[in-house]
Amino acid sequence: MPVLAGEALRKGYASPEGRLEVLRGLDLTVAAGEVVAVLGPSGSGKSTLLHLLAGLDRVDAGTVRWDGYVVDPAAPGLAARRAAHVGLVFQHHYLLAELNVLENVTLPGRIVGRRVDAEARELLAAMALGSRERATLQALSGGERQRVAVARALVLGPRVVLADEPTGSLDRANALAVYAVLRDTVRARGAALVIVTHDEALVADADRHVRLEEGRLQGHGVAVA
Ligand SMILES: Nc1ncnc2c1ncn2[C@@H]1O[C@H](COP(=O)(O)OP(=O)(O)OP(=O)(O)O)[C@@H](O)[C@H]1O
Ligand SMILES: [Mg+2]
Repeated sequence: MPVLAGEALRKGYASPEGRLEVLRGLDLTVAAGEVVAVLGPSGSGKSTLLHLLAGLDRVDAGTVRWDGYVVDPAAPGLAARRAAHVGLVFQHHYLLAELNVLENVTLPGRIVGRRVDAEARELLAAMALGSRERATLQALSGGERQRVAVARALVLGPRVVLADEPTGSLDRANALAVYAVLRDTVRARGAALVIVTHDEALVADADRHVRLEEGRLQGHGVAVA
């Protein structure tokens, strides 16, 4: 059974020019331990796809499954299930400014009632933020905040990790380091990683890459050239 599956996904938005059909019958299946890079021009629907896969937004048609479980954003208890099952890194991180680094990373543990300080410290060390755990978010650079967001996404050991340009604000060395933590964590746990990126080095390292064009994924399973 795939860790993550999107089947015949359709999603559109109302716009002044009429309805905008963003995803038009998109299929994506990700196996245990697999890293899939998603490419595509701005506005092609990459973030829309990740929101659907995360169960944050409703599909117009189609099905999202996490380890076979059919995701319904309206289902009671979905938020708790998502917190335990899915790690999210957004294009714009949503960290809490009033909490320090460690508190931000351990926040998902509070949601599901688990102590995750040890995991959080290990991840922060892997992100070269071990010495900053008591720092407030305001004291961090954009790249450091993004690394905190990645640590938070991984802290509960999610089966599915969805990352939307997680390294966009990082320099070369930090981008590769953060990606390596994501990839290695996912592979070691037999989880699934879907990563939206324009970074060619990351695309080349992924198990496969797919391109979002005209509402569907092209090059499904195609080896990287
Ligand atoms: N909530 C919304 N309401 C209306 N239109 C939306 C909404 N969200 C996204 N869109 C539109 O859907 C299209 C796809 O947006 P999306 O954010 O998924 O693109 P993207 O591939 O992630 O782009 P980028 O690379 O710039 O992040 C865009 O034309 C966008 O304007
Ligand atoms: Mg986007």
